[in-house]
Amino acid sequence: MAKRKRRVVLTAVLLGTVLLLLIGGVAFVTFSQEGEPAMPEIPGITVEDVNVNGCVDCHNNDIADSDYRLSTSLGELVEEGKHPDVSAMVTTVPDDCVMCHSQQMAEGMGTEPLGPMMHKIHLVGGAENHFIAGYQGQCTHCHGFKEETGEFSIKSGEEG
Ligand code: HEC
Ligand code: HEC
Ligand code: HEC
Repeated sequence: MAKRKRRVVLTAVLLGTVLLLLIGGVAFVTFSQEGEPAMPEIPGITVEDVNVNGCVDCHNNDIADSDYRLSTSLGELVEEGKHPDVSAMVTTVPDDCVMCHSQQMAEGMGTEPLGPMMHKIHLVGGAENHFIAGYQGQCTHCHGFKEETGEFSIKSGEEG
């Protein structure tokens, strides 16, 4: 009886040790995989800002067969009856959009202010949103940051 009991205890101790080693191993692998967090890539802050003109630097037709120009997407909305034709009055984006999409004007025009509208389009939807997946959802793609003064601005430019 006593011998048998000792064997059971020994087996339990051995199993316990194996289990601990396993847990330790998994914890070690998980821990070492985490390592240092990657440096955030923030345009104009930690990496070079390649889209200094904001909207129009991304919404262009530089790549063959891909027309991301805002004049094109707004043109499609005009055809669907979802946007007034603004082709004659918009040259600088987003400055010229704000004549209708400002905090003051938007409600009366039956639309939204540009800031919240653009934030919803670009910053909602997690990994499904190409602005988040492809551009890390960084504010400074659209907002300029001045290191010397600490001020933010809205980048703008003419559609090419
Ligand atoms: C760094 C690149 C980048 C910048 C800068 C940028 N966008 Fe976008 N934009 C995108 C991407 C990517 C999408 C597609 C998002 C998605 O997956 O729904 C998008 C979507 C849009 C859409 C929805 C319709 C469409 O054309 O796809 C509008 C409208 C739009 N952007 C306007 C603007 C305006 C106005 C600005 C400037 C205030 C701006 N964007 C700045 C990358 C950019
Ligand atoms: C002349 C005024 C005016 C200007 C300029 C203007 N918009 Fe609009 N926009 C509107 C109005 C009005 C609506 C709402 C239309 C509706 O719901 O029928 C709208 C709606 C939108 C919508 C939502 C469309 C949808 O799918 O429901 C987007 C996106 C938009 N505007 C982007 C822009 C951008 C980007 C610019 C500048 C390049 C711009 N707008 C310039 C008046 C304007
Ligand atoms: C796709 C372009 C885009 C991105 C990305 C973006 N913004 Fe904006 N933001 C705008 C535009 C356009 C305006 C309105 C400009 C105007 O009305 O003159 C604006 C306005 C604002 C305002 C003023 C209040 C308002 O909503 O109009 C704040 C605050 C702001 N943004 C914060 C942020 C922060 C924080 C981020 C990042 C998490 C961010 N924005 C990312 C385009 C963008």
